[in-house]
Amino acid sequence: MNTLLLNKIYDVKLNITNWKKDNLIIGLVPTMGALHKGHASLIKKAKEMCDKVVVSVFVNPIQFGPNEDYNKYPRTIDADKNICAELGVDIVFAPTPNEMYGEGNKLSNTELTFVCPPYNLTDCLCGKSRPGHFDGVATVVTKLFNITSPNYAFFGQKDAQQLYIIKKMVKDLNMNLTIIPCPIVRENDGLALSSRNSYLSAEERTWALTISKSLKEIEKLYKQGITDCSILFDTAMSILDKNLEIEYIEFRDFNTFEEVKSAKNNTLTAIAVKAGKTRLIDNIILV
Ligand code: PAJ
Repeated sequence: MNTLLLNKIYDVKLNITNWKKDNLIIGLVPTMGALHKGHASLIKKAKEMCDKVVVSVFVNPIQFGPNEDYNKYPRTIDADKNICAELGVDIVFAPTPNEMYGEGNKLSNTELTFVCPPYNLTDCLCGKSRPGHFDGVATVVTKLFNITSPNYAFFGQKDAQQLYIIKKMVKDLNMNLTIIPCPIVRENDGLALSSRNSYLSAEERTWALTISKSLKEIEKLYKQGITDCSILFDTAMSILDKNLEIEYIEFRDFNTFEEVKSAKNNTLTAIAVKAGKTRLIDNIILV
C-alpha cells in the first residue's frame, strides 16, 4: 500500500480532483496526530465505507488557548504515517501552520475568517474553560472539508461536544458531506484512549481510572431506574478520586444539547477533570 505523506494543500487537491473524476467515495479522518487505537477505529470505519481515505494530522494552533499545551502536544508524524500505512490510508495530510494559515500565521479574528458555532453550544462543558476553542475547531474542520471534499468525515464520540457542534455546522451551513460518529475506544481498564494520556504519571493514571468507573456506575444506576441527575452527580463525585480537580460533570440531552435534570434515553453524561496538569474528558450516552 502506497501511503502518500503530503504537506501541501495543492497536492492534496490534485489527488482529490482525480479521484472525483473516477466517482470515488472519499473519507476524511481529521486528527491532531499522536495516533492511537481510538484514531485507528475511525480510520478502519472510513476504510469500510470509502474508496479513498485521507487522514489529516495537524495540531491546530487556533483551537488552543494561550495557557494550553499547543507547544508540548505530542508530534509523532513518522509513527503516525506508519500506522496510516498499515491501515491502508491513501493520503496523510500533514500541513504546517503556515500552509494552513499563511506566512506569519495570521491567527486572530481580526485577520482570519472564523466559523463560529452557536453560543449556547460553546458556552458549556469544554467551551466554558476553553473560550474560542470550538471556533478554532469549526474553522479548521471547515478548511479540511474544503481541501479534501469528502463524502464522509469520521469523528469520535469521545469528543461528544465537538461531534455535536460539527454535525450542527454541517447542517446549518449546508455542507455537502455526512458526519459518521464512532464509539469511544478504551483501554482494558476502562481509560478512554487519548493522545494526552502520555502526559500521565503512573499515579495520575490510577486517579484517571475513576472517571470511566463513575460513568459506568451512573449507567448502572440509570438502568436500575434512577434518573435524578443530582443523585447521579453525587454518585460520580463519590467515585472520582479526590486528587482529581473536577471541571464539570454535566447531563445534556444529546438531541438538543439542553441541560437535563432528569436523565432519559440519549442523555449525554460528560466529565472533565484535571489529573495533575493533564486535562482529561470522557462521557457516556445513557440508553
Ligand atoms: P484528536 O484529539 O486527534 O482526535 C481526532 C479524532 O479522534 C476526534 O474525532 C476524536 O473524537 C477521535 N478520538 C480520540 N480519542 C478517541 C477514542 N478514545 N475513541 C474514539 N475516538 C477517539 O479532535 C481533534 O483531534 C481535533 O479537535 C480535530 C477534530 C482534528 C480538529 O483539529
